[in-house]
Amino acid sequence: MNRSWWSTIIAIFIFMLIAGCDTSEDSKINIIPKPLELKVLRGAFRIDSTTQVLFSQGDDAAAHVARYLAERIEKAGGLKLKVSSATQATLVPGAILLAADQSAPELGDEGYLLEAKRDGIVLQGRPAGLFYGVQTLFQLLPPQIYGDEARSGVEWTIPAVRIKDKPRFQWRGMHLDVGRHFFPVEFIKKYIDEMAMHKMNVFHWHLTEDQGWRIEIKKYPRLNEIGSWRDGTIVGRMGRPPYKIDNIRYGGYYTQDEIREVVHYAKERFVTVVPEIELPGHSVAALAAYPELSCTGGPFKVRQIWGISDDIYCAGNDQVFEFLEDVLSEVLELFPSEYIHIGGDEAPKIRWQNCPKCQQRIREEGLKDEHELQSYFIRRIEKFLNAKGRRIIGWDEILEGGLAPNAAVMSWRGVEGGIAAARQGHNVVMTPSSHCYFNQYQGDEANEPMAFVGTISLKKVYGYEPIPDELTPEQARNVLGAQGNVWTEYIKTPERVEYQALPRMCALAEVVWSAKAKRDYQDFTRRMSAHYQRLDEMDVNYHWPALTGLEAQNVFIDEMTVNIGNQRRDAEIHYTLDGSEPTKESPVFSTPMTITTPTVIKAREIVPNGRMGQVYEGHFIKQQPLDPVSLQAGRQGLSFQYFKLDEPINATTDLAGLTPTETGRIETIAFPYDDLPEAFGLIFSGTIKVPADGVYAFFVLSNDGSRLFVDSRLIVENDGWHGANEKRGQIALKAGLHSIRTDYIQAGGGKALKVFVKGPGIEKQEIPASMF
Ligand code: ACM
Ligand code: ZN
Repeated sequence: MNRSWWSTIIAIFIFMLIAGCDTSEDSKINIIPKPLELKVLRGAFRIDSTTQVLFSQGDDAAAHVARYLAERIEKAGGLKLKVSSATQATLVPGAILLAADQSAPELGDEGYLLEAKRDGIVLQGRPAGLFYGVQTLFQLLPPQIYGDEARSGVEWTIPAVRIKDKPRFQWRGMHLDVGRHFFPVEFIKKYIDEMAMHKMNVFHWHLTEDQGWRIEIKKYPRLNEIGSWRDGTIVGRMGRPPYKIDNIRYGGYYTQDEIREVVHYAKERFVTVVPEIELPGHSVAALAAYPELSCTGGPFKVRQIWGISDDIYCAGNDQVFEFLEDVLSEVLELFPSEYIHIGGDEAPKIRWQNCPKCQQRIREEGLKDEHELQSYFIRRIEKFLNAKGRRIIGWDEILEGGLAPNAAVMSWRGVEGGIAAARQGHNVVMTPSSHCYFNQYQGDEANEPMAFVGTISLKKVYGYEPIPDELTPEQARNVLGAQGNVWTEYIKTPERVEYQALPRMCALAEVVWSAKAKRDYQDFTRRMSAHYQRLDEMDVNYHWPALTGLEAQNVFIDEMTVNIGNQRRDAEIHYTLDGSEPTKESPVFSTPMTITTPTVIKAREIVPNGRMGQVYEGHFIKQQPLDPVSLQAGRQGLSFQYFKLDEPINATTDLAGLTPTETGRIETIAFPYDDLPEAFGLIFSGTIKVPADGVYAFFVLSNDGSRLFVDSRLIVENDGWHGANEKRGQIALKAGLHSIRTDYIQAGGGKALKVFVKGPGIEKQEIPASMF
């Protein structure tokens, strides 16, 4: 063996040693979001009743953070630590020192340097940085630090580390819609705590909606007497009329005192509260109280169903601007944030088109159309707020008709609005509904409570990159950050808010805080195993990650091997086969199981602290593969029927009995025309040739509804009105030709239709023309 071989072997050996050490040390540290630089040292610092918390003399902010730290240690550990000021900025034996002097200016306002040694801890940073350093300290302690009952018998040790950390983005937001459903102040505070522990710093409080006005406005008491209450709420999922209304009076609002309390609570946690006062749309609750602010004069009822209202504020009536300026003046008194969110989304122009006052405004102002009238509306509000030293932020529709000069844009209908605004030099917050709408499902619908249509998994959130590739580095600087949105049409309780928001908030926190190069989903899930214990201590009703290997629907022919996997490393999987709910007493799933008869498996994770995860259910269906169909010559391939509709229909089932507008042959399941109306239907029918006996999975991604049949059996049910959403179904087939049919409807808005297949020897792919 020559020398270069030896040096290679030695280099590999040294590398393995270093890599081995690194992971073994690192793997005990579970900080979320992941810090910029982390070095694990030898030993640990132990907090006991003699530990002091020190802060830089004369620094009120540092003193405040020091007291916040001591309060938590007292609550969770029953240790009443002495908090006092110190003149030095270096290690004091036996103390946790919060040093406000900033020896590392590159850390900015929110970065911190944390050195934990055996004999003491020094945390350096500006006020927000100190606060985030304290959050990191909590995550270096046992999870019980997040509890609210003083525990005995917990070793309050902090491993010796050196951490240098700072955020990637300045806007690390979470939104909450309190209009569709209303949540008490106590919960709003808990939500802010949940944000703060993840180093999130903007709470976007969506305070006004069609379904309820939730902020006290002294000058306009009817906003609360009338606008904060509705006489009923739609039952079930929103579709087409007739609607079922529960007729139960529902509502509430936050008093100005309560709002001040929340803003103060948030400020102490370095969270800025950005209020949203929606205009010109989503304003029916206000119009119910003051119908003279509409184009038609009303009357209106606070809205009981979801969706979009045609009735919006009149843009031709100066009284509307007086009203909004009065409302905003009270809002500014309550919220010190630089940005005020003015909504701007989903404002149909139909009333403005038919309103003499609005049309007169268009003529007087020399506007081209109603989009420019919306732009006029937003600019006028911007001027008012700019004069008060504030800036506006609005949903991406505010780009239509021209962006107001100083406005920031919240990009939600994808990323295009954000790209356009950033290119124009405007600030942007990314909240695309594809990744940031936490009101959508996060797992298989079959195993989840009813949510907004669409699925955004934890992994998908984690993989989100807020800077679109299309932007130059200079334009990218206009992207302030990203935000998770929680719209509450189908979320009625604080527990459900938590279930929708977490753990996706944890993933988003890492997207907006951690360095891009540091993101690693495997490592994130490892750290999450420990993080869930913190959430348990805080009594957070998070979504329990779905077990792997347990799909809701599973078709097999002779037998099938099931291998259910953990998500949490601290958990054991318990299961039942008799339909009962698994408990601690149920058998533990530890080795793969072979199934030969129809079976229902119910399984859940149970962790040492006794918490039981949600139950996931897998149905194992035994099927004999269907014989191929024999077809007359000339019937192979695919044909379509196209239905042009004057009015949208509810579901593909309503296509039955309609006469197609056009029919024809087509290569694959795709839209046959480029130019399509708002509402239409399609039926694709033909044959599919499968290459081998086996189980085939079909997937239909559609916006709006779809259903897929194979050999006249319904395989995929994805019907109704909804955004782009994929559903799956399976069937056992013998090699050869089988009939296939896909029905589709489009009811307006975005449209999409893709049909995928997966089977023996076939990776998941859109069904290629060669298979028809
Ligand atoms: C929105 O989701 N309408 C902003
Ligand atoms: Zn009008």
